[in-house]
Amino acid sequence: MAETSAAIIARIEDLARERGIPLKVMLVGSAARSTWLSGDHDLDIFLGVPLGDDLGRALEIARLVAPDHVEKYAEHAYVHAQMDGFEVDLVPCFLVEDASRLLSAVDRTPFHTKYVGGRISDREDEVLLLKQFMKGVNVYGSELKVGGFSGYLAELLVLCYGSFAEVLQAASAWRPGQRLDLEGHGTGRHDEPLIVVDPVDPGRNVAAALTLDKMLQFAGAARSFLAEPKLDFFFAPSQPPLSDEELIARINERRTMPILLEFAAPDVVEDVLYPQLRKAEGSIKALLERSGFSILRSDVSAYRDRAVMLFEMEVWQLSKACRRIGPPAWDAEHIARFLAAHPRPLSGPYIANGKVVVEEARRYTSARDLLEGESANLSLGKHLSASIRDGHNIYAGYELLGIKDEGFRTFLAHYFQAEFRIG
Ligand code: UTP
Ligand code: MN
Repeated sequence: MAETSAAIIARIEDLARERGIPLKVMLVGSAARSTWLSGDHDLDIFLGVPLGDDLGRALEIARLVAPDHVEKYAEHAYVHAQMDGFEVDLVPCFLVEDASRLLSAVDRTPFHTKYVGGRISDREDEVLLLKQFMKGVNVYGSELKVGGFSGYLAELLVLCYGSFAEVLQAASAWRPGQRLDLEGHGTGRHDEPLIVVDPVDPGRNVAAALTLDKMLQFAGAARSFLAEPKLDFFFAPSQPPLSDEELIARINERRTMPILLEFAAPDVVEDVLYPQLRKAEGSIKALLERSGFSILRSDVSAYRDRAVMLFEMEVWQLSKACRRIGPPAWDAEHIARFLAAHPRPLSGPYIANGKVVVEEARRYTSARDLLEGESANLSLGKHLSASIRDGHNIYAGYELLGIKDEGFRTFLAHYFQAEFRIG
């Protein structure tokens, strides 16, 4: 790792010198702090550009260094490439004077490396234990798909509490609203479940991407581990894809109706895709519930180039007749409007509990028909709406057997198991 990163950094420096471009090239992230997990091959190399210069020239150099790359986009464009068996990110950033005066979120990163690097020595192993534990119990990773703990956050927890064991002790008692401030300099008000004030930027919460559930999953796993420590906390058992037989067994024992909406995943990064999928999941749930159906649980996933939303229905079939409750029976003006809006009642209008009521025919009596009829009309964010309108499939119950894709079957296995270590 040291050899590869030194070679890449030297190439970047040469190219910058040849072109007369002032660049400060820095190895950052876990590779720079000796806190990378073995088996991870990830190098974060930042190309620092003086304030007032432009990031474009740094990006051009990154492209030259890694001819075979893909360009990604967070706040700014950066280059991702595989080099010598490493996943390398080449990220242009501004050399700001202090991290609270940043122009873009990545400008903070070199400050993180400096802060942690100067304090973590001799405690790298504690960080490694904590990161591996977080991986094993499925809470590691600050990308929006996961909503868990970032590597930097794990490092700060070790700095704050002292060791892996002390982090687990402390986390065992965490409740939403827990606040940590190593430098005692926090300024902002945050309403996230865990607030860890960035030591290099008083206004920033390092745990901003951590969801309430991931925070409490970690706390639950910590209690459970401390009660009965076992090696397998650190290594999540790999989940085999659900076989046809198992899928049939799950459906038969639950007697719910799983309904799946499947379509082409729009070509955007996961940090864009997953929030959109979750938002769309919420809109469709609301539509189903407004229409009288009820949902046991739902989830979303993306595998290969497909995206899916799964709605497991507790009530998926309704009678044709339904009640529409109108205005109070003394409110003549609104009654007229209500009756005009419901012109063909099956029964009624009548008065019940002081209100005008009609019974009329439902437009959709099955959740599947509702999805079929309405999902293309919902506004689900520009990427998803376009993708769903272009073509989608609906699978219900045993029809799910028709999707053999391993990624999908693994998602289903996780979905049905839904088991966490909660002490
Ligand atoms: P990485 O995601 O590569 O994290 O981001 P890492 O610390 O190197 O950990 P692993 O071992 O690869 O998982 C690189 C740097 O970007 C900043 C941190 O400074 C981090 O070290 N960063 C990343 C954040 O501040 N917040 C984030 O959510 C992600
Ligand atoms: Mn990294």
